[in-house]
Amino acid sequence: MSGRLSRTETWTLLSLSAACFAVLVNTFQGDGEPLIASLVFSGIAFSFTYALIRWLGDTFIRAGLKGRDMCKTRNGEIPETMGAVCAVVYLLAIIIFIPFPFYKDIVAATSGGGNRDLVLEVEHVETGRFLHRFPHSKLASYLSAIITLQAIVLLGIGDDLFDIRWRHKLFIPAFASIPMLTVYFVDFGVTRIVIPTPLRPYLGELFDLGWLYYAYMAAISMFCPNSINILAGINGIEVSQSIVIALLIALNDCLYILQPNQTPPHPALDSHLFSLYLLLPFIGVSLALWYHNWYPAKVFVGDTYCYFAGMVFAVVGILGHFSKTLLLLFIPQILNFLYSAPQLFHLVPCPRHRLPRFNARTGLLEPSVAEFQRPLWRPVATVMKLLHKLRLLRIKTDEKGEVVESTNFTIINLWLVMFGPMREDRLAMGLLAFQTACGLAGLFVRHKLALWVFTQDNL
Ligand code: UD1
Ligand code: MG
Repeated sequence: MSGRLSRTETWTLLSLSAACFAVLVNTFQGDGEPLIASLVFSGIAFSFTYALIRWLGDTFIRAGLKGRDMCKTRNGEIPETMGAVCAVVYLLAIIIFIPFPFYKDIVAATSGGGNRDLVLEVEHVETGRFLHRFPHSKLASYLSAIITLQAIVLLGIGDDLFDIRWRHKLFIPAFASIPMLTVYFVDFGVTRIVIPTPLRPYLGELFDLGWLYYAYMAAISMFCPNSINILAGINGIEVSQSIVIALLIALNDCLYILQPNQTPPHPALDSHLFSLYLLLPFIGVSLALWYHNWYPAKVFVGDTYCYFAGMVFAVVGILGHFSKTLLLLFIPQILNFLYSAPQLFHLVPCPRHRLPRFNARTGLLEPSVAEFQRPLWRPVATVMKLLHKLRLLRIKTDEKGEVVESTNFTIINLWLVMFGPMREDRLAMGLLAFQTACGLAGLFVRHKLALWVFTQDNL
């Protein structure tokens, strides 16, 4: 890949940025519409990321941040850890964005800054329930989100540099989530959950989980980043799944925000605006990365991106109080985790890489396999034979009936076992269609069928 932008690209990016700046200047005149400002920031973030990925490729290679594409005939090395570029641009964008949702509110609430003639009623200041303007206290959550995301990026880059061992890197996101959980503790401290109707006679309407709630939030922060990192290995799949999840969360947010003339505004409005403010720039930087990472990849995203993306979702879900809905959008990742469990927990040997095998003769991907020197534990072997019969795994046995080889336990390989060898981009598109379908079904369940177990949909 040449490190230069073509003339068309330069002009497109420049015009996009110029248009964004113009709109941004305009928002100053009105009420400082933060949602529009957020969209504008996403556009600018896209342009910057796009250009920086292109310019920094060679520098990354020289610094040793590079990888070999294992599913191609030509085995050159391409830059890795490009997620770090995304993450840095993203962090800058959401930091510079702070004055837009918060400025007026801080000034008005403290009646300083020469704005004394603007009188805000006390209850407005406390609840902040007016569209687009955030109460001051939300700033604490917002800043804690930034610190947590910064921590995950730092640790992610460390992982890409030093290739940390699996059993250690599993816990990286848990460390990064500490700032957010600490602020959650001093800020909300809400640890109660709503009990489904059928269980209410026994547990009451609300149940206080106490410290278990913090364990639950830490678990979410560990699951989201790692689950994206293990549903990886073919061009474009890490970024695309993240973009699909982000778009679906944004769609869910819009369901709450686009309810015109609702007075008083929906109580969850703030949470969903908060979520959009963090997601829109994420979608911006991810699209720029997607363009370079889609088949045939010109750059790799690195573990930094997987952790960063997963953490954005965890932060948004936890601070926006919709972590259960979030999990409904992670169905393929949950399935992949459950299916991977035998290898993750070493019941079955796990090779360093489980990405599909490239067949240079056909140009297609085939399921990759793990070979076993020693006989497997009986019950595990029996289950694997059963899965083989159900066409959910492919194994080879020797003359004594011992399992000597099996396809690797990821849904990427499972897709190939079920549908046969295919080209890398078709495989990625199939998995993305699956991700989208599961996510839409999840949202449908959330808003339509939840009424069976809860007394009301909170929409
Ligand atoms: C995780 C997976 C591993 C998978 C790897 C691929 C587990 C436990 N670990 O490990 O099985 O092989 O992700 O990302 O499930 N690569 C490609 N094409 C791509 C993307 C990556 O060939 O489209 C290769 C490149 O050589 C790249 C390397 O994968 O350098 C990156 O692997 P890394 O992210 O370090 O692997 P892990 O996250 O540790
Ligand atoms: Mg990885």
